[in-house]
Amino acid sequence: MGMGLPRCYFYAVQCLIFLLLKASQCSSFVQTIGHADECSALMQFKQSFTTSKSASLDPFAYPKVASWMQERTRRNCCSWDGVECNEETGYVICLNLNSSCLYGSLNSSSSLFQLVHLQKLDLSDNHFNFSKIPSRLGHNLTGLTLLNLSQSSFSGQIPSEILYLSKLSTLDLSATSFLDMTFDYDHFSSSKILELTNANLRSIVQNLTNIQQLHLNKVHILSTLPDIFANATSLKALYLQSCGLSGEFPVGIFQLPNLEVLDLMYNEDLTGYFPEFNKSSPFKKLNVARTNFSGHVPASIGDLSSLRLSYLSLSFFFDHNYTYYDVSRNSFSGQLSESWSWVGKLTKLYHLSLAYTYLRGEFPSFVANLTQMEELDLAYNQITGKIPSWLAKLTKLTAPYFPFNNLQEAIPRSFFQLTNLQYIDLSSNNLSGTVELDEFFKLKMLTVLRLSFNKLSVHIKTSLTATSPKFEALALVSCNLTEFPDFLHDNSKLVELDLSDNNVHGQIPRWMWNSTGESLWYLNLSHNSLTGFEQNPVILPWKNLHLLELGSNRLQGQLPIPPLSIQFYSVPNNGYTRGVSPSFCNLKDLFVLDLSNNNLSGMLPQCLGSSSAFEILKLRNNSFHGDIPDQMCPTGQGSLKMLDLSYNQLRGKLPRSMENCTQLVFLDFGNNHISDSFPSWLGTLPVLRVLILGTNGFHGTIGKPATNHEFPNL
Ligand SMILES: *[C@@H]1O[C@H](CO)[C@@H](O)[C@H](O)[C@H]1NC(C)=O
Ligand SMILES: *[C@@H]1O[C@H](CO)[C@@H](O)[C@H](O)[C@H]1NC(C)=O
Ligand SMILES: *[C@@H]1O[C@H](CO)[C@@H](O)[C@H](O)[C@H]1NC(C)=O
Ligand SMILES: *[C@@H]1O[C@H](CO)[C@@H](O)[C@H](O)[C@H]1NC(C)=O
Ligand SMILES: *[C@@H]1O[C@H](CO)[C@@H](O)[C@H](O)[C@H]1NC(C)=O
Ligand SMILES: *[C@@H]1O[C@H](CO)[C@@H](O)[C@H](O)[C@H]1NC(C)=O
Ligand SMILES: *[C@@H]1O[C@H](CO)[C@@H](O)[C@H](O)[C@H]1NC(C)=O
Ligand SMILES: *[C@@H]1O[C@H](CO)[C@@H](O)[C@H](O)[C@H]1NC(C)=O
Ligand SMILES: *[C@@H]1O[C@H](CO)[C@@H](O)[C@H](O)[C@H]1NC(C)=O
Ligand SMILES: *[C@@H]1O[C@H](CO)[C@@H](O)[C@H](O)[C@H]1NC(C)=O
Ligand SMILES: *[C@@H]1O[C@H](CO)[C@@H](O)[C@H](O)[C@H]1NC(C)=O
Ligand SMILES: *[C@@H]1O[C@H](CO)[C@@H](O)[C@H](O)[C@H]1NC(C)=O
Repeated sequence: MGMGLPRCYFYAVQCLIFLLLKASQCSSFVQTIGHADECSALMQFKQSFTTSKSASLDPFAYPKVASWMQERTRRNCCSWDGVECNEETGYVICLNLNSSCLYGSLNSSSSLFQLVHLQKLDLSDNHFNFSKIPSRLGHNLTGLTLLNLSQSSFSGQIPSEILYLSKLSTLDLSATSFLDMTFDYDHFSSSKILELTNANLRSIVQNLTNIQQLHLNKVHILSTLPDIFANATSLKALYLQSCGLSGEFPVGIFQLPNLEVLDLMYNEDLTGYFPEFNKSSPFKKLNVARTNFSGHVPASIGDLSSLRLSYLSLSFFFDHNYTYYDVSRNSFSGQLSESWSWVGKLTKLYHLSLAYTYLRGEFPSFVANLTQMEELDLAYNQITGKIPSWLAKLTKLTAPYFPFNNLQEAIPRSFFQLTNLQYIDLSSNNLSGTVELDEFFKLKMLTVLRLSFNKLSVHIKTSLTATSPKFEALALVSCNLTEFPDFLHDNSKLVELDLSDNNVHGQIPRWMWNSTGESLWYLNLSHNSLTGFEQNPVILPWKNLHLLELGSNRLQGQLPIPPLSIQFYSVPNNGYTRGVSPSFCNLKDLFVLDLSNNNLSGMLPQCLGSSSAFEILKLRNNSFHGDIPDQMCPTGQGSLKMLDLSYNQLRGKLPRSMENCTQLVFLDFGNNHISDSFPSWLGTLPVLRVLILGTNGFHGTIGKPATNHEFPNL
């Protein structure tokens, strides 16, 4: 998770935008008499699910089916919420149950398939319990022009019968749950996604000749994109984010006469290049971020599409033309921001991502022209100098993402005139000066604020009233804080809090319990002078906490017991005493446990290491005694990579089960009382690089290796 988190936060804006794009579908204002058998089929459909708020992500979701009541005539369903009938024939032609909190499985015996006159079917943003899409859909609902099953937890192979829906103009099978995108981008389980064969993808273009909207975000295609796509002349929008595409992108797609939206983000093995753009090119949105596109960004984008293009994401684009190789420094020196000045002609842009495009020099002046700008992502470049005060003219700006640059001096006061700001990331720059945090509190929309890793001194006025923004993420690492920010008192939305490397002293306040108990996922308070929890916890109160870092403080007493959701638990360099509770054995998702440099004692729980999730276990420099648990990697598929038990008082022999820890890279048993012969049996571990056994009671001879293949990487 640690790997997934930062970069996903970084793209959270794009995800949000995607969620906010909603179009109107079924609307039934006219009273029409329906057919009793269809109304019964709908009622049966309703009854085959339960409803639960958590089945939908949309905050305005509600169970539309809850208001469905059958009258005595059994023909009144045309007035039901989400249902529309043909005025003349009375057949149900449109069923829109988007964000309707439906939960349960859907199979081929569903009464849904009796609605054979359906033209539009929208079941998006529900939870179908990872059902397969029934192939009967293709046999029975052949009149569909719109099918939206996005974000509704279907899984498995998309049936080829979908190709029988020859009238389809809109097909949306994207999986884009907000939570997936934010926190666990790389780790979604492959059993819970939709898959599409390359042959079926090709046939979608060949057979569904009316297709205009094709949305397949996060559907696993895992192959190349068929050339035939360059012939899909009716296509208006093609969304293929995170499909595992590889090979060369068919360049002809850029010349499709009607294509307005092309979104290829997160296909890191997809190569491609931009052609010169056609004068009549209708592009509105172009996203090739995190692909392997390279070559040259033609300035003709700026000349020709200026009236339309409003979304441009070229992050990670490697422009061979503008980037020059600095032989003396043996590195790419980057391109001056003037080389991108054509972007200044795209005055309709509301989203621009140029992260990782080797920009260098002063803050790019072409941005001043982009007065419609809302999301400006210039992360991971080498932009220097001040944040320009003219930025305040971009009054629509919601998300300035400028982390990992070399911005200097103070944040200009004009910055705080941008009252629409929602996500601010200025971390990892060279900004300096004192920041009065209540300046940010004037920004009522603010939910994410990151100022970490600058030379800023953040000052928090004490006794602030409850008017601070409702933060979802607050990162103030190395900001010279001395107190716990009181304004978080009433912050039930806080997901991430990082106050590490400050001078916060005293206790972690009790109010943190109540306000953030449900929301908090990420808590890093390491490298401060904290002495404990105000309400001494045995069990931490955050039900959804995934990461806890409390290292390098002055914490004492018994180790706090984390919730079952924990994945990363790190509290080194404190004064914790007593033993490790056996309840740590229940933490099935824990993969990093660092308790180094405390005063912990007692025996190690037998279960340690036996959970297959464990990757890093560091218990160095405590007073643990007794035997090492003998169930390390018992199943032969352990993922343990690092085990450091040094500087303890452990006895006995090395557990033979470690020969199954095939991923081990680092192993330190030094400075214990282990009494064993040399563990030549560890020689089979293929990636072991470090083995430390010193200052123990090892004895006997170290024999000549039986084969040349022992300890291949030591
Ligand atoms: C499908 O439904 C989702 C969620 O309701 C929505 O965001 C998306 O825009 C819809 N797709 C199309 C193509 O209209
Ligand atoms: C569902 O779709 C309708 C019409 O397409 C849209 O107005 C609405 O915002 C969507 N979401 C919910 C929760 O109804
Ligand atoms: C299909 O689902 C229904 C409940 O919705 C269930 O009663 C039925 O047994 C299922 N049929 C099959 C073939 O799985
Ligand atoms: C969800 O799927 C699981 C596994 O297929 C099944 O055991 C469970 O009964 C399903 N739940 C519902 C509500 O359909
Ligand atoms: C619906 O599909 C099934 C096959 O899945 C087929 O046997 C049946 O005839 C179809 N019904 C209609 C009305 O098309
Ligand atoms: C797709 O169309 C071709 C003809 O263009 C036809 O032979 C084939 O059967 C169709 N495939 C499906 C699955 O409908
Ligand atoms: C695309 O269409 C053209 C002309 O209609 C045809 O010559 C070409 O073979 C088609 N390409 C593919 C990949 O089918
Ligand atoms: C670089 O771009 C310039 C102007 O856009 C163009 O004339 C030149 O041919 C390009 N060079 C390469 C190597 O692509
Ligand atoms: C700013 O936009 C105008 C058109 O609105 C254009 O004429 C001008 O060249 C642009 N300036 C820059 C620096 O791109
Ligand atoms: C940190 O804050 C203190 C006051 O709380 C101030 O005296 C000191 O100069 C600040 N340090 C830096 C590096 O700004
Ligand atoms: C926490 O909430 C409980 C009730 O839910 C309340 O009694 C208590 O005073 C609250 N504590 C704090 C510190 O807000
Ligand atoms: C290693 O794993 C295998 C199963 O994969 C098991 O049979 C064997 O007993 C294990 N070895 C030890 C020493 O636990």
